[in-house]
Amino acid sequence: MKTELEKLLINFKKEIEKIERLEDTETLRVKYLGRKSGLLQKITAQIPKLPTSQRSGIGTMINEIRAQIEHILEEKSAKRKVSGEETYVDVSTPGKKFETGSLHPITLVIEEIKEIFYYLGFTWTDGPEVESDLYNFQKLNMPPDHPARDAQQTYYIDSETLLRTHTSNMQVRFLENHKPPIRVLFPGRCYRRDMPDTTHLPSFYQIEGLLVDDRSKMTDLLGSLDFFAKRFFGKKTKIRVYGHHFPYTEPSIEVEVHHPKKGWIEILGAGMVHPDVLRNGRLDPGKYRGWAFGMGPDRLAMLKYGINNIRILYNNDLRFLNQF
Ligand code: DAH
Repeated sequence: MKTELEKLLINFKKEIEKIERLEDTETLRVKYLGRKSGLLQKITAQIPKLPTSQRSGIGTMINEIRAQIEHILEEKSAKRKVSGEETYVDVSTPGKKFETGSLHPITLVIEEIKEIFYYLGFTWTDGPEVESDLYNFQKLNMPPDHPARDAQQTYYIDSETLLRTHTSNMQVRFLENHKPPIRVLFPGRCYRRDMPDTTHLPSFYQIEGLLVDDRSKMTDLLGSLDFFAKRFFGKKTKIRVYGHHFPYTEPSIEVEVHHPKKGWIEILGAGMVHPDVLRNGRLDPGKYRGWAFGMGPDRLAMLKYGINNIRILYNNDLRFLNQF
C-alpha cells in the first residue's frame, strides 16, 4: 500500500505539471482528494482490509500525502492567479455602468435664483416649516378673521400652530433679529390644503426675497425683477406688472413673464413692505423702507423646462430625473 501511495503522489505531480488552466487544478483536486471517489480516499478505504502488521504508519503517510497535494494545488493556483496566465479579457463583456446622481430640477432652479440675486447682493437662510399662526399670518397683517386667509387653505396642527402656507413667514422673523440694510432670500417648502392637479400639490416650494434699507423704491423692485426674469428665462424676456393686494405689502403687485408659447404667465407676487410689517419687525417705518417678493420654483421649473404636470417634479421617476 505504501508503494501505491508513493505512486499516487508521483502521478499527481506529473499531472499537475501538464495543467494549463486554472479550472483544471480544481478537477485535479477532485480526482485526488475528492471525499467520495478521490484516489486517496479509495486507498484509505482499503486500510481495514490490511493485515494489522501492515497498517502501522499508513494513516500518517496518507495525511502527509494529502497535505502535500493540497500544498501543491494551492501554490499552483496562486501562481496562475498572480501571473495572470489564466485571466483573459473578454472584450465583448458589457462594461460596468457607474451611475452618477444629479440635482433635482427644483434644486437647480432654487440654486439659479439664489445665484442671480446673489449678484444683486442677496444671501439666504432657512426657516421653520412648522410655524405659529403669529408669524405666518398675524404679524403679516392677517388677523384671525382676515379674508386673505381663505385663499391659503391651511393645515393646522393646533389652534396656534400650522404648516407654513408661504415663505413670507420669515419676513418678521428675520427683521426682528437683523439691522438694515437687509437683502435676503428665504427658500423652502410650504403647505396648503389644495386638491392635487396639474399645477397644484399640497406641498410645494417658494422662494421669498426681502430687502430693507432707508432709500429703496418701487422702481428698484421692478428693475430687480426684470433683471431676474432676463437672467432666468433669457435676455429678451419681457415682464409686465399690475396692481394687486397682499396684506403685507403696500402697494402690491403681481408680475407676469411673457412665455413664447403660453403667452403671459404670472410668476410672482411682490410689493413695498407694509409699515405694520416693519413695525412688527421692530423697525421704524419712518426711517426704513423695503420691498419683498415671493415666487414658486416649481412653477418656474415647469416653465423653464417645458413640464406640463407638477406631479412629474415629485414622483422621482428616473426617466425624468436623469435628464437633468
Ligand atoms: N406670500 C405670497 C403667496 O404665497 C407671495 C408674496 C406676495 C410674497 C407678495 C411677498 C410679497 O413677499 O411681497 O402667494
